[in-house]
Amino acid sequence: YDYDLLVIGSANADLVIGVDRRPGPGETVLGSDLAVHPGGKGANQAVAAARLGARTALLARVGDDAHGRLLLDAQRAAGVDTVGVLVGGAPTGVALITVDPSGDNSIVVSPGANGKLTPGDVRAAGSLFHASRVVSAQLEIPLETVVEAVRNLAPGTRFVLNPSPPRPLPPEVLAACDPLIVNEHEARAILGDAPLGDGPADWARILLARGPRSVVVTLGAQGALVASAQGVALVPAVLVDAVDTTGAGDAFTAALAWRLGQGDALADAAAYASRVGAAAVTKAGAQEAYPTPEEVAAL
Ligand code: RIB
Ligand code: NA
Repeated sequence: YDYDLLVIGSANADLVIGVDRRPGPGETVLGSDLAVHPGGKGANQAVAAARLGARTALLARVGDDAHGRLLLDAQRAAGVDTVGVLVGGAPTGVALITVDPSGDNSIVVSPGANGKLTPGDVRAAGSLFHASRVVSAQLEIPLETVVEAVRNLAPGTRFVLNPSPPRPLPPEVLAACDPLIVNEHEARAILGDAPLGDGPADWARILLARGPRSVVVTLGAQGALVASAQGVALVPAVLVDAVDTTGAGDAFTAALAWRLGQGDALADAAAYASRVGAAAVTKAGAQEAYPTPEEVAAL
């Protein structure tokens, strides 16, 4: 394989304002100076993996504009192969983000060019799929594009999905996931009206019964549950002081996907990914906060 990880997904300019508290309906609050960071769940995953040492490629679409150049520069600086980053068709995606003093965020995404990443773009990138040990996706691009990615997986290539923002998934996509990675909110959205059982271990089992080969449920400070045919296990959280949680989940997913491709067992890969996610929340921004292997080891 030429790549340890191929990420297919979104690239956004993150427009971030710090707030004391989020405004309610009809309310105006004053915030901090505006910060513009490279972001987007796909672009974030690619940078996180590359910074850890994974040979990484990104399949995405950005606009022919300053935000698109910001994103491409950030990918290249991290060592991501951008041969699959398409330019044009719509303005670069934008995420409006508020971050509160506890480091929690709220995000609204305008997809822009991400919404123009088509199944045809996936088919045209067939050589990238054949050259990649693991393929990772999220849901800030059209669902039919993710479906096409699943159809283009080479035999033996592992597929990892973080269904964020969540929506119901076709059986074909669920069956390809190894693992499906969800937080509590995403688990509920995917299970829809199905009975949820008594808690996260039940959600993991119910999700697993929908077809994925494995499931990871992230639980914040409670850690993460990993579920497969071998059973369900809890991986404890790595607790740190949060500055900005934006993109920490993307770092977790990228690290997990990479380690699985390197042959780690699911629980071991999740334990490593938890350390990567923890390191990511200790600094402002998403991509700029992602750790090197040395920083992960020092946690
Ligand atoms: O997961 C964090 C990311 O979500 C941000 O970088 C923002 O762009 C949105 O896609
Ligand atoms: Na961060």
